[in-house]
Amino acid sequence: MCWRQSIRPNCWRPWANELDSALTIGELLHRDAVRLRAALQLDVRTSAMEARLLLAAACGVEPVWLLAHDRDLPHSGQIAIYLATLERRLSGEPMAYILGEREFFGLMLRVTPEVLIPRPDTELLVELALARLPQRGGCRVIDLGTGSGAVALALAHTRPDADVLGVDRSEAALAVAADNARRLGMNNVTLLCSDWWQSVPAGRFELVVSNPPYIAAGDRHLGQGDVRFEPLQALVGGRDGLDDLRRIVPDACMRLTPGGWLLLEHGWDQAAAVRSLMAAAGLKQIESCADLGGNERVTLGQAG
Ligand SMILES: C[S@@+](CC[C@H](N)C(=O)[O-])C[C@H]1O[C@@H](n2cnc3c(N)ncnc32)[C@H](O)[C@@H]1O
Repeated sequence: MCWRQSIRPNCWRPWANELDSALTIGELLHRDAVRLRAALQLDVRTSAMEARLLLAAACGVEPVWLLAHDRDLPHSGQIAIYLATLERRLSGEPMAYILGEREFFGLMLRVTPEVLIPRPDTELLVELALARLPQRGGCRVIDLGTGSGAVALALAHTRPDADVLGVDRSEAALAVAADNARRLGMNNVTLLCSDWWQSVPAGRFELVVSNPPYIAAGDRHLGQGDVRFEPLQALVGGRDGLDDLRRIVPDACMRLTPGGWLLLEHGWDQAAAVRSLMAAAGLKQIESCADLGGNERVTLGQAG
């Protein structure tokens, strides 16, 4: 869509009796930032940004363009698209699903309701993993529970010499990951449908990384915010949240090369339990790392 033709200058208001069509870009953004703030308890900055992102997407322009054209009137078709997406957001649907994309580790990824929305928290997992990849020579990496491909693609993009295998049980999630790999032109990522290690071909990895489901069934957070819209199989790890971690760790130790690393993301209160799982499986140099909020969210261990 070409915005130069579709945004009306503020001199012609054929729909002046229809409130939404009579509002300028600036007026729409102000009104709807207030609505979003009230409906979703957002802060001022976030609500203004969300309104701007939705209107920019509907108009086919960059968000910053709207700031410089706040006295223009959007086209009726653009307003219709904008209001439809605004209603979805007002009902709580995550921005990432409405816009169909989310940035992760500098990569713009397509996301759908079939995949977990990649979180900034998970960038810690990627940073720690990159720091432990052998600096020279090719290396094999496996990302268990790859979802949108966020972790696998971030690692593969930063280390084009690595062979990265992304595994998920969900075919729908793997289709999204494959689409992301294709869009980003990544040819060092392979995707595989498997129930954790079950169908992973024999062979060892220098690095095993996973952000598995780790929320306890019945946790109140499952009924709050974006999480309500995300796939349960990406979130819930049994009664105490540790079921999947219990399945991943023992096999991971047998699949690491000597000196290879296992890195796992987990809940803020699960670090001690994950350290115990790694110790029981025979890993060494076990350590939990805190995020910027001071919570231990990643635990790692090395094969002897
Ligand atoms: C928390 S999400 C992580 C997605 C992505 N790695 C990220 O960090 O954004 C967990 C992923 O594990 C997958 N998963 C759940 N159970 C699985 C299983 N038994 N085998 C393989 N993958 C599984 C889910 O489909 C989901 O994509």
